[in-house]
Amino acid sequence: MKLILLGPPGAGKGTQAKMLTERFDIPQISTGDILRAAVKEGTPMGVKAKSFMDAGALVPDEVVIGIVRERLQKEDCAAGFILDGFPRTVAQADALKDTLHSLGKDLDAVISLEVDTEALVERLTGRRTCRECGRGYHVKFDPPREAGRCDVCGGELIQRDDDREETIRKRLEVYHEQTSPLIAYYSNQALLVSIDGMLEISTVQEKILAHLQAA
Ligand code: AP5
Ligand code: MG
Ligand code: ZN
Repeated sequence: MKLILLGPPGAGKGTQAKMLTERFDIPQISTGDILRAAVKEGTPMGVKAKSFMDAGALVPDEVVIGIVRERLQKEDCAAGFILDGFPRTVAQADALKDTLHSLGKDLDAVISLEVDTEALVERLTGRRTCRECGRGYHVKFDPPREAGRCDVCGGELIQRDDDREETIRKRLEVYHEQTSPLIAYYSNQALLVSIDGMLEISTVQEKILAHLQAA
């Protein structure tokens, strides 16, 4: 299964990707997660990426294209992968096409999660993430059993630096300008599957699975 999860910030890409990796035993490739790990480690790439991320802007194409090209060549991608948050520009989508072509692979589907803007802001301001294992929560829509603690590993739940309201607005603007053209891009290639991302987390997952099983 070779999938892209496309959607604005807060659409549920990470939430759905984590459920799909368990189901199909294929890796989630989140450029956001890879970049945040590089920032945390203070690598040269992380140092470069941080200012863009804090501003809610996109990290330059050549940086993320390089990350994904390398990642897709790893052995664990042999049976498939779920790209979460990549591609985000037409240049990234074109580069992905070339990379997959050179590896002799084709995409199965591009899942587009559609969510209203007001709901996105509420989802992002209430999002919490486990510092240890990365499991995502929401204070209202997907709360942990004990406030501030991860159900899975007991780790501390933290808020992402870019989940402040003004940065969220900027990220949404950037999505509309630079990423939303990919909806037409993949629709023209007959790969786009639109899913109503306003439904409950488990219902969204069921809809994605129903589509993948029917395909
Ligand atoms: P990235 O980490 O990819 O962030 P994003 O695209 O802004 O998306 P999010 O992770 O915020 O949202 P999500 O769709 O994963 O939602 P989630 O499942 O967490 O990128 C961060 C930054 O890195 C970018 O701004 C950029 O600077 C850089 N970057 C990354 N990739 C790049 C690229 N390719 N090119 C250039 N720069 C790049 O859900 C959100 C919340 O809602 C959670 O709390 C969840 O519990 C809740 N929720 C989920 N689904 C539902 C539901 N159905 N109902 C109710 N609540 C729900
Ligand atoms: Mg995410
Ligand atoms: Zn945890």
